[in-house]
Amino acid sequence: MNTATRFEDEMQVVGSYADGKLLAGRMGGVGVMLFNQPDKRNAVNLEMWDGVCSAIDLFTADDEVRVVVYGGAGGEAFTSGNDISQFAERRNNAEANAEFARIAGRGREKMVAFSKPSIACIEGYCLGGGLATALLADFRVSASDAIFGVPAARLGIAYAFEAMERLVEAVGTARASLMLYTARRFSAAEALSMGLVDVLAEIDVVAETLEIARTIADNAPLSVMAAKHSFEQLRKAPQARDLFAIAEHMRRCMDSADYREGRAAFLEKRRPVFVGA
Ligand code: COA
Repeated sequence: MNTATRFEDEMQVVGSYADGKLLAGRMGGVGVMLFNQPDKRNAVNLEMWDGVCSAIDLFTADDEVRVVVYGGAGGEAFTSGNDISQFAERRNNAEANAEFARIAGRGREKMVAFSKPSIACIEGYCLGGGLATALLADFRVSASDAIFGVPAARLGIAYAFEAMERLVEAVGTARASLMLYTARRFSAAEALSMGLVDVLAEIDVVAETLEIARTIADNAPLSVMAAKHSFEQLRKAPQARDLFAIAEHMRRCMDSADYREGRAAFLEKRRPVFVGA
Protein backbone atom coordinates (compact mmCIF):
# COMPACT_ATOMS: atom_id res chain seq x y z
CA MET A 1 0.00 0.00 0.00
CA ASN A 2 1.33 3.44 -0.94
CA THR A 3 1.06 5.63 2.15
CA ALA A 4 2.87 8.67 0.72
CA THR A 5 1.08 11.95 1.36
CA ARG A 6 -0.28 13.57 -1.81
CA PHE A 7 -1.01 17.28 -2.18
CA GLU A 8 -4.01 16.50 -4.36
CA ASP A 9 -5.59 14.44 -1.54
CA GLU A 10 -4.86 16.90 1.24
CA MET A 11 -5.41 20.39 -0.16
CA GLN A 12 -8.54 22.41 -0.64
CA VAL A 13 -8.52 23.60 -4.26
CA VAL A 14 -8.97 27.38 -4.39
CA GLY A 15 -7.93 28.00 -8.00
CA SER A 16 -7.94 25.88 -11.16
CA TYR A 17 -6.23 26.98 -14.37
CA ALA A 18 -5.36 25.53 -17.79
CA ASP A 19 -8.16 22.95 -17.60
CA GLY A 20 -7.08 21.96 -14.10
CA LYS A 21 -3.47 21.28 -15.13
CA LEU A 22 -2.30 23.99 -12.73
CA LEU A 23 -4.02 24.05 -9.35
CA ALA A 24 -3.85 26.45 -6.42
CA GLY A 25 -4.60 24.85 -3.07
CA ARG A 26 -4.78 25.78 0.59
CA MET A 27 -3.98 23.86 3.75
CA GLY A 28 -4.40 26.39 6.55
CA GLY A 29 -1.69 29.02 6.21
CA VAL A 30 0.13 26.98 3.55
CA GLY A 31 -0.63 27.55 -0.14
CA VAL A 32 0.18 24.89 -2.74
CA MET A 33 0.83 25.53 -6.42
CA LEU A 34 0.47 22.13 -8.03
CA PHE A 35 1.62 21.17 -11.54
CA ASN A 36 -1.09 18.72 -12.43
CA GLN A 37 -0.45 17.02 -15.74
CA PRO A 38 0.73 13.65 -14.38
CA ASP A 39 0.19 11.74 -17.65
CA LYS A 40 2.92 13.97 -19.14
CA ARG A 41 5.05 13.92 -15.99
CA ASN A 42 3.68 17.40 -15.18
CA ALA A 43 5.20 18.99 -18.28
CA VAL A 44 4.29 22.69 -18.26
CA ASN A 45 2.48 24.11 -21.29
CA LEU A 46 1.94 27.80 -22.03
CA GLU A 47 -1.59 27.83 -20.63
CA MET A 48 -0.17 26.48 -17.37
CA TRP A 49 2.38 29.31 -17.35
CA ASP A 50 -0.54 31.75 -17.59
CA GLY A 51 -2.08 29.83 -14.67
CA VAL A 52 1.10 30.32 -12.65
CA CYS A 53 0.56 34.11 -12.92
CA SER A 54 -3.02 33.78 -11.67
CA ALA A 55 -2.09 31.40 -8.85
CA ILE A 56 0.68 33.68 -7.60
CA ASP A 57 -1.72 36.66 -7.71
CA LEU A 58 -4.22 34.64 -5.70
CA PHE A 59 -1.66 33.72 -3.03
CA THR A 60 -0.36 37.29 -2.90
CA ALA A 61 -3.86 38.63 -2.26
CA ASP A 62 -4.73 36.04 0.39
CA ASP A 63 -3.39 37.34 3.71
CA GLU A 64 -3.96 33.99 5.38
CA VAL A 65 -1.44 32.29 3.06
CA ARG A 66 1.96 32.74 4.66
CA VAL A 67 4.08 30.34 2.62
CA VAL A 68 3.61 28.52 -0.69
CA VAL A 69 4.82 25.05 -1.69
CA TYR A 70 5.39 24.25 -5.37
CA GLY A 71 4.76 20.59 -6.13
CA GLY A 72 3.85 18.06 -8.79
CA ALA A 73 0.82 15.76 -8.82
CA GLY A 74 1.02 12.00 -9.15
CA GLY A 75 4.33 11.29 -7.42
CA GLU A 76 6.34 10.57 -10.59
CA ALA A 77 7.60 14.06 -11.33
CA PHE A 78 7.94 17.57 -9.96
CA THR A 79 7.83 18.64 -13.58
CA SER A 80 9.59 17.23 -16.63
CA GLY A 81 10.10 20.74 -18.01
CA ASN A 82 8.25 22.58 -20.71
CA ASP A 83 5.65 20.61 -22.65
CA ILE A 84 7.58 19.35 -25.67
CA SER A 85 4.35 18.49 -27.50
CA GLN A 86 3.83 22.26 -27.96
CA PHE A 87 7.29 22.79 -29.47
CA ALA A 88 6.42 21.73 -33.06
CA GLU A 89 3.74 24.40 -33.26
CA ARG A 90 4.84 27.09 -30.82
CA ARG A 91 8.61 26.80 -30.43
CA ASN A 92 9.78 25.64 -33.85
CA ASN A 93 12.26 28.41 -34.63
CA ALA A 94 13.95 31.44 -33.07
CA GLU A 95 11.02 33.78 -33.75
CA ALA A 96 8.44 31.40 -32.25
CA ASN A 97 10.79 30.81 -29.33
CA ALA A 98 10.78 34.52 -28.52
CA GLU A 99 6.98 34.46 -28.05
CA PHE A 100 7.17 31.15 -26.16
CA ALA A 101 9.84 32.59 -23.85
CA ARG A 102 7.78 35.76 -23.34
CA ILE A 103 4.74 33.81 -22.09
CA ALA A 104 6.76 31.38 -19.94
CA GLY A 105 8.87 34.34 -18.75
CA ARG A 106 5.80 36.13 -17.41
CA GLY A 107 5.10 33.17 -15.13
CA ARG A 108 8.72 32.95 -14.03
CA GLU A 109 8.88 36.69 -13.32
CA LYS A 110 5.77 36.38 -11.15
CA MET A 111 7.48 33.64 -9.18
CA VAL A 112 10.67 35.69 -8.86
CA ALA A 113 8.75 38.74 -7.63
CA PHE A 114 6.55 36.74 -5.24
CA SER A 115 6.89 38.32 -1.79
CA LYS A 116 6.00 35.28 0.32
CA PRO A 117 8.35 32.41 1.14
CA SER A 118 8.27 29.48 -1.28
CA ILE A 119 9.46 25.88 -1.14
CA ALA A 120 9.85 23.41 -4.02
CA CYS A 121 8.84 19.88 -3.05
CA ILE A 122 10.50 17.50 -5.50
CA GLU A 123 9.43 13.92 -6.20
CA GLY A 124 10.47 11.89 -9.20
CA TYR A 125 11.80 13.70 -12.25
CA CYS A 126 12.90 17.31 -12.05
CA LEU A 127 14.26 18.07 -15.49
CA GLY A 128 15.09 21.02 -17.72
CA GLY A 129 12.61 23.84 -17.26
CA GLY A 130 11.27 21.90 -14.25
CA LEU A 131 14.58 22.30 -12.50
CA ALA A 132 14.59 25.99 -13.45
CA THR A 133 11.15 26.28 -11.82
CA ALA A 134 12.33 24.50 -8.66
CA LEU A 135 15.26 26.93 -8.51
CA LEU A 136 12.80 29.84 -8.33
CA ALA A 137 11.66 28.67 -4.91
CA ASP A 138 13.52 29.96 -1.87
CA PHE A 139 14.74 26.42 -1.15
CA ARG A 140 14.18 22.83 -2.24
CA VAL A 141 13.15 19.67 -0.40
CA SER A 142 13.74 16.46 -2.35
CA ALA A 143 12.64 12.86 -2.12
CA SER A 144 15.62 10.52 -1.77
CA ASP A 145 14.86 8.92 -5.14
CA ALA A 146 14.24 12.12 -7.15
CA ILE A 147 16.12 12.52 -10.43
CA PHE A 148 17.60 15.77 -11.72
CA GLY A 149 19.01 16.91 -15.03
CA VAL A 150 19.06 19.47 -17.81
CA PRO A 151 18.50 17.60 -21.09
CA ALA A 152 18.73 20.73 -23.31
CA ALA A 153 21.75 19.34 -25.18
CA ARG A 154 19.75 16.21 -26.01
CA LEU A 155 16.99 18.32 -27.50
CA GLY A 156 19.21 20.82 -29.30
CA ILE A 157 17.93 23.87 -27.40
CA ALA A 158 19.77 26.47 -25.32
CA TYR A 159 18.85 26.54 -21.64
CA ALA A 160 17.33 29.92 -20.75
CA PHE A 161 19.85 32.45 -19.47
CA GLU A 162 17.73 33.26 -16.40
CA ALA A 163 17.65 29.53 -15.56
CA MET A 164 21.41 29.34 -16.02
CA GLU A 165 21.86 32.23 -13.58
CA ARG A 166 19.94 30.44 -10.81
CA LEU A 167 21.65 27.13 -11.54
CA VAL A 168 25.13 28.66 -11.34
CA GLU A 169 24.16 30.47 -8.16
CA ALA A 170 23.17 27.10 -6.63
CA VAL A 171 25.93 24.78 -7.84
CA GLY A 172 28.72 26.92 -9.36
CA THR A 173 29.87 27.14 -12.97
CA ALA A 174 31.86 23.89 -13.05
CA ARG A 175 29.00 21.67 -11.86
CA ALA A 176 26.51 23.56 -14.04
CA SER A 177 28.87 22.85 -16.97
CA LEU A 178 28.91 19.16 -16.06
CA MET A 179 25.11 19.11 -16.00
CA LEU A 180 24.59 21.09 -19.20
CA TYR A 181 27.31 19.57 -21.37
CA THR A 182 26.61 15.93 -20.46
CA ALA A 183 22.79 16.34 -20.18
CA ARG A 184 22.97 13.34 -17.86
CA ARG A 185 20.78 12.60 -14.87
CA PHE A 186 21.82 13.15 -11.27
CA SER A 187 20.56 11.39 -8.15
CA ALA A 188 19.04 13.22 -5.19
CA ALA A 189 22.19 12.48 -3.15
CA GLU A 190 24.31 14.10 -5.88
CA ALA A 191 21.87 17.01 -6.03
CA LEU A 192 22.21 17.52 -2.28
CA SER A 193 26.00 17.44 -2.37
CA MET A 194 26.02 19.92 -5.28
CA GLY A 195 23.72 22.37 -3.51
CA LEU A 196 20.91 21.87 -6.00
CA VAL A 197 18.58 20.81 -3.17
CA ASP A 198 18.70 21.79 0.48
CA VAL A 199 16.88 19.06 2.38
CA LEU A 200 16.66 15.35 1.58
CA ALA A 201 13.42 13.92 2.94
CA GLU A 202 13.76 10.72 4.90
CA ILE A 203 10.50 8.96 4.05
CA ASP A 204 7.59 11.10 2.86
CA VAL A 205 8.72 14.20 1.00
CA VAL A 206 5.29 15.85 0.85
CA ALA A 207 4.63 15.36 4.58
CA GLU A 208 8.13 16.54 5.46
CA THR A 209 7.84 19.60 3.21
CA LEU A 210 4.48 20.48 4.73
CA GLU A 211 5.96 20.22 8.20
CA ILE A 212 8.63 22.77 7.25
CA ALA A 213 5.99 24.96 5.59
CA ARG A 214 3.79 24.90 8.72
CA THR A 215 6.75 25.89 10.86
CA ILE A 216 7.28 28.90 8.60
CA ALA A 217 3.54 29.70 8.57
CA ASP A 218 3.52 29.77 12.38
CA ASN A 219 6.42 32.22 12.57
CA ALA A 220 6.13 36.01 12.56
CA PRO A 221 5.18 36.92 8.94
CA LEU A 222 6.87 40.34 9.04
CA SER A 223 10.15 38.77 10.16
CA VAL A 224 10.01 36.11 7.45
CA MET A 225 9.15 38.69 4.79
CA ALA A 226 11.95 40.99 5.97
CA ALA A 227 14.39 38.09 5.57
CA LYS A 228 13.06 37.30 2.09
CA HIS A 229 13.35 40.94 1.09
CA SER A 230 16.95 41.06 2.32
CA PHE A 231 17.83 37.95 0.26
CA GLU A 232 16.36 39.63 -2.84
CA GLN A 233 18.41 42.76 -2.20
CA LEU A 234 21.58 40.71 -1.67
CA ARG A 235 21.16 39.31 -5.21
CA LYS A 236 21.55 42.85 -6.56
CA ALA A 237 24.73 44.81 -7.03
CA PRO A 238 25.46 46.82 -3.84
CA GLN A 239 24.73 50.14 -5.58
CA ALA A 240 21.32 48.85 -6.77
CA ARG A 241 20.09 47.79 -3.33
CA ASP A 242 17.07 49.57 -1.88
CA LEU A 243 18.44 50.50 1.53
CA PHE A 244 15.32 52.50 2.36
CA ALA A 245 13.09 49.44 1.83
CA ILE A 246 15.44 47.29 3.95
CA ALA A 247 15.19 49.86 6.77
CA GLU A 248 11.41 49.99 6.37
CA HIS A 249 11.11 46.20 6.80
CA MET A 250 13.26 46.49 9.93
CA ARG A 251 11.11 49.34 11.28
CA ARG A 252 7.84 47.48 10.63
CA CYS A 253 9.11 44.46 12.59
CA MET A 254 10.38 46.49 15.54
CA ASP A 255 7.08 48.45 15.80
CA SER A 256 4.85 45.42 15.29
CA ALA A 257 2.32 43.83 17.64
CA ASP A 258 3.95 40.53 16.71
CA TYR A 259 7.27 41.65 18.22
CA ARG A 260 5.41 42.49 21.46
CA GLU A 261 3.70 39.08 21.26
CA GLY A 262 7.01 37.31 20.63
CA ARG A 263 8.58 38.94 23.70
CA ALA A 264 5.55 38.26 25.90
CA ALA A 265 5.26 34.64 24.79
CA PHE A 266 8.93 34.06 25.57
CA LEU A 267 8.60 35.48 29.08
CA GLU A 268 5.32 33.62 29.71
CA LYS A 269 6.82 30.36 28.38
CA ARG A 270 4.07 29.79 25.80
CA ARG A 271 3.82 29.53 22.03
CA PRO A 272 3.46 32.91 20.33
CA VAL A 273 0.45 33.58 18.12
CA PHE A 274 1.38 35.95 15.31
CA VAL A 275 -1.00 38.00 13.19
CA GLY A 276 1.38 39.60 10.69
CA ALA A 277 1.12 43.15 12.00
N1 COA B 1 6.75 17.29 -22.58
C1 COA B 1 5.73 16.63 -23.13
N2 COA B 1 5.41 15.35 -22.84
C2 COA B 1 6.18 14.74 -21.92
C3 COA B 1 7.27 15.37 -21.28
C4 COA B 1 7.55 16.74 -21.64
N3 COA B 1 8.52 17.45 -21.06
N4 COA B 1 7.83 14.51 -20.42
C5 COA B 1 7.11 13.37 -20.50
N5 COA B 1 6.13 13.49 -21.41
C6 COA B 1 5.13 12.50 -21.81
C7 COA B 1 5.74 11.43 -22.69
O1 COA B 1 5.77 11.83 -24.03
C8 COA B 1 4.79 10.27 -22.43
O2 COA B 1 3.63 10.47 -23.22
P1 COA B 1 2.85 9.21 -23.88
O3 COA B 1 2.32 8.44 -22.68
O4 COA B 1 1.78 9.86 -24.67
O5 COA B 1 3.86 8.45 -24.66
C9 COA B 1 4.40 10.45 -20.98
O6 COA B 1 4.72 11.80 -20.65
C10 COA B 1 5.19 9.57 -20.04
O7 COA B 1 6.55 9.73 -20.34
P2 COA B 1 7.54 8.49 -20.48
O8 COA B 1 8.77 8.96 -21.18
O9 COA B 1 6.82 7.33 -21.09
O10 COA B 1 7.78 8.20 -18.93
P3 COA B 1 9.09 7.74 -18.18
O11 COA B 1 8.70 7.64 -16.75
O12 COA B 1 9.70 6.55 -18.84
O13 COA B 1 10.15 8.95 -18.38
C11 COA B 1 10.86 11.26 -18.35
C12 COA B 1 9.87 10.21 -17.81
C13 COA B 1 10.43 12.58 -17.72
C14 COA B 1 12.28 10.89 -17.93
C15 COA B 1 10.82 11.32 -19.88
O14 COA B 1 9.46 11.41 -20.29
C16 COA B 1 11.56 12.48 -20.48
O15 COA B 1 12.77 12.39 -20.67
N6 COA B 1 10.84 13.59 -20.76
C17 COA B 1 11.42 14.74 -21.42
C18 COA B 1 12.22 15.56 -20.45
C19 COA B 1 12.83 16.75 -21.13
O16 COA B 1 13.53 16.65 -22.12
N7 COA B 1 12.57 17.95 -20.56
C20 COA B 1 13.09 19.17 -21.06
C21 COA B 1 12.03 19.94 -21.75
S1 COA B 1 12.60 21.57 -22.13
